[in-house]
Amino acid sequence: MFVSFCTSLLIELSIFATLATSLDVTISVTAPTSAATISTSLVSFSLEQDRWTDFSGTTARNQFFFNVLDNLKQLTGSPPNIRIGADSEDHTNFNPNVQFSQTIFPAISSTFPYPEATNITVGDTYYQTAKFLPPGTHVVWGVNFGQNNITAATLEATSIAKAFKTSDITNAGISLDAIEIGNEADLYKSNGDRASSYTSTQYTKEWTTFATQVISAAGITSSSHTKLWGAAFAGSSTTTTGFSPQAIFSEGILSSTPGALISTISQHHYSGSFCSGSGGLLQDLMTKSTIRGNLTTFKPDITATRAKGLDYVLGETNSYSCHGAPGVSNAAGAAIWGLDYLLFATQIGISKVFFHEGIGYKYNAIQPATLTRSITDGSTLSPPLAPHVQPLYYAAVIAAEAIGNSGNTHSVELALNDTSISGYGFYEGTKLVRAVLINSKAFLKADTSARTTTHINLKFTGTAPTKATVKRLAIGRADDTSGVKWGGQTYETSDGRASGAITTQSISVADGVDISETEVIMLSFT
Ligand SMILES: *[C@@H]1O[C@H](CO)[C@@H](O)[C@H](O)[C@H]1NC(C)=O
Ligand SMILES: *[C@@H]1O[C@H](CO)[C@@H](O)[C@H](O)[C@H]1NC(C)=O
Ligand SMILES: *[C@@H]1O[C@H](CO)[C@@H](O)[C@H](O)[C@H]1NC(C)=O
Ligand SMILES: *[C@@H]1O[C@H](CO)[C@@H](O)[C@H](O)[C@H]1NC(C)=O
Repeated sequence: MFVSFCTSLLIELSIFATLATSLDVTISVTAPTSAATISTSLVSFSLEQDRWTDFSGTTARNQFFFNVLDNLKQLTGSPPNIRIGADSEDHTNFNPNVQFSQTIFPAISSTFPYPEATNITVGDTYYQTAKFLPPGTHVVWGVNFGQNNITAATLEATSIAKAFKTSDITNAGISLDAIEIGNEADLYKSNGDRASSYTSTQYTKEWTTFATQVISAAGITSSSHTKLWGAAFAGSSTTTTGFSPQAIFSEGILSSTPGALISTISQHHYSGSFCSGSGGLLQDLMTKSTIRGNLTTFKPDITATRAKGLDYVLGETNSYSCHGAPGVSNAAGAAIWGLDYLLFATQIGISKVFFHEGIGYKYNAIQPATLTRSITDGSTLSPPLAPHVQPLYYAAVIAAEAIGNSGNTHSVELALNDTSISGYGFYEGTKLVRAVLINSKAFLKADTSARTTTHINLKFTGTAPTKATVKRLAIGRADDTSGVKWGGQTYETSDGRASGAITTQSISVADGVDISETEVIMLSFT
C-alpha cells in the first residue's frame, strides 16, 4: 500500500515534471542601441478634478496620498507627474469667492457608485492646494473648453498660474509643466458639448482662439517653463481624417501662435468599456498580445508626434472605462496588466503613462479618501473603508524599482517565445542591472488544477553575471482584490508605506529561475 502510494506519487511527480515547461531568455549584458530611455516619472497619475482636494487635502495635507506618491519618488528620485482635469475639467466654472470648490453630483447608481460631478465651481485656494504634493512634482492642469465659455477657461488659467507663483508651491519645487485646454474634444459631438457634425478643423480653430487667451492669462511664452498640452483625445483615427494628432497637425495647429507652445501630445486610452466583469475579461486584460494590440495602435501617431519634436504621453489611461470593471480593474491581475502596459509603452515611444484615478473608482491604484460605499455596487460600507492602495499600485512600485534612481535608465523588451510571459532588461547607462519577467496567465479562484510554473533558462550575450537576486510579486489568485505582496512587503497599510521584511532569493544564474502563472519576478544582477 505504502509502496504503491510512493510509486504513484513518483509517477505523478514525473508527469508533473514533464508538464512543467521551460523557456530560454537571452539578455544582453550591454544595452542594445535600440534600448529606450525611460523617464523616472514613467508612472504618473491623472486625477478627476471634481474631487481634487480629496486627494491633496484642503487646509492640511492628505498624508496618505502624499506617502503613496513619495514611495515612488524614493524609488526613482522623481515623484509621479500629476495631471488634474479629465471629464470634470469641462464642467468647471471659476468664482473668486469660492473657497476650494463647490460641487453638484448626480444620483448614485450601482454601476456608478462614485459618479463625476456635473457642476464644479472652484476658487483660487482650489489650485493652491497643489502645495501638498511631494516636492518636485510636475503638474499639468486642464481648463474648461467643453462648455465653450472662454471666460471660464481664462479665469481658470489665471488662477492656476497665480497658484504656481505662490511661495509654498515654488519653495517646494512644484512646477506647472502645462495647461490642457479641454478633455476628449473628439467626444463633444456625441456628448452634446458641440454639434453632431463637429470636426477636427472646427476644433483646431476654436482651440486656437481659447489657447490665445489662455497663454496670455497664464503668461505662457516660448521662454516660460509652462507650456500647453495638445489633443487629449479619447481615441484616435490615426490618420489625417477625423480626430488625431496628425489631423490637427495637418490643420496647422502647431503653426498658430499658441500651437507653437504645445510641448506634448496627450492621448487617452482604455482597453475597453465594461460595467460588469468576469474572469475571462480579466485574462483578456492581462494577455500579452492584447496589451500590445492596444498600444501599437498609436504607433502612427507617436511617429507623427515625435517627427514634430514633441513629447507623447498617455495623459489619461487605465484598464476599462466606466471607472473600471468590477472584480477586474480592482483585482490583482490588474497589477500584471499595468506593469506590462507601462513597460511595453516605453518600447514604442510613450514617455509617461498617467493612470486615471477618481475617488472610489474601481480601477484606482490609490484610494486616497475614506469610502462610505462599495466601489463595485454602491452598497453602504459599515464601517467605512480607510484610504488604501489597490493591486494596480504594485505595478507602479515594481516599474519604479526597475527604473531605479540612476536618471539614466534604458530598457529593452526581451524576445520571449511565449504567449504569456514577457520580459524587459534594464540598463543604467549601458550596464545591465535588472530584468523583469511577467507571467500574465490568469490563475483564477475558479481554477482547480495546479498552478503551472515555467522554468526560465537565463542566457546572456556578453560576459554572464554569475548571481542574481530574485524578488517576487506574490498574488494568491488573479481575481483577489487584496493581499498582494512585493518581495514580502505589503503596501496595504493605513499610512500607505511598505510594511514587512523584504524577502528575496539568491540564485546562480546558471540554474535559471521559475515563474508561476500570475506572477512577476525581478532579477537584480550584481
Ligand atoms: C462662464 O464662466 C463663468 C466663469 O466660470 C461663469 O461665471 C459663467 O456663469 C459662465 N457662463 C455660462 C453661460 O455658463
Ligand atoms: C450646472 O451646469 C449647467 C451647465 O452645464 C447649468 O445649466 C445648470 O444650471 C447648473 N446647475 C446648477 C444646479 O448650478
Ligand atoms: C485591447 O485589450 C482588450 C482587452 O483588455 C481586448 O479585448 C482588445 O481586443 C484590445 N484591443 C486591441 C486593438 O488589441
Ligand atoms: C516557439 O515556440 C513554439 C511552440 O512553443 C515552437 O514551435 C517554436 O519552434 C519556437 N520558436 C523559436 C524561435 O524558438
